[in-house]
Amino acid sequence: MLPRNRWFIAAALAYALLGGLLGLTWLAFPAALPAYALRAHAHLMLLGFVGMMIFGIGLHVLPRFTGRPLFSERLADAQFLLVNIGLITMVTGWLADARLVTTAGGALLWIGLLLFALNVVATVRPWARR
Ligand code: HEM
Ligand code: HEM
Repeated sequence: MLPRNRWFIAAALAYALLGGLLGLTWLAFPAALPAYALRAHAHLMLLGFVGMMIFGIGLHVLPRFTGRPLFSERLADAQFLLVNIGLITMVTGWLADARLVTTAGGALLWIGLLLFALNVVATVRPWARR
């Protein structure tokens, strides 16, 4: 497994622990957290834990399923940076109640998702016979 794919999985586990801690804090000390803490929790869990796990496993397994190499490792490297910087920025924006920061993070994240989509489609190539 390529180091970048391992890093995706490590990041997924780190986000799961961080998001879980935020959820637990919400249960124990709800008044200590800012208004958008649950939104941060939801995205740390769904994009951070579930999403990063899907990216790491998907980038490793899809080329093997199709019998073709990944369309572009460099696109996947760029995606790694974009989705991680994007998620951290978006969550920071929610926790700090800074909409501009959240929006900037969301935009980076979205570009990262787009790169993943393009890479997967170009690897799976639904139009190819085999
Ligand atoms: C240690 C594990 C977890 C804890 C302690 C936790 C805690 C919480 C709490 C306290 C809420 C707010 C419930 C409410 O009062 O409305 C919540 C909402 C939520 N959680 Fe978790 N959760 C955990 C794991 C997860 C996981 C694994 C996922 C998804 C993969 C997840 C996704 C969500 C979502 C989407 C919401 C709704 C957020 C919202 O309404 O804005 N959580 N969680
Ligand atoms: C580019 C990526 C994303 C951006 C910019 C984004 C942004 C947002 C925003 C602004 C809201 C609040 C909507 C409102 O005002 O009520 C929201 C809610 C939500 N999003 Fe996302 N999202 C993204 C990706 C995702 C993904 C991939 C998932 C799931 C896999 C997800 C799950 C949710 C859920 C469950 C809620 C409702 C929970 C809550 O109110 O906190 N989002 N998202």
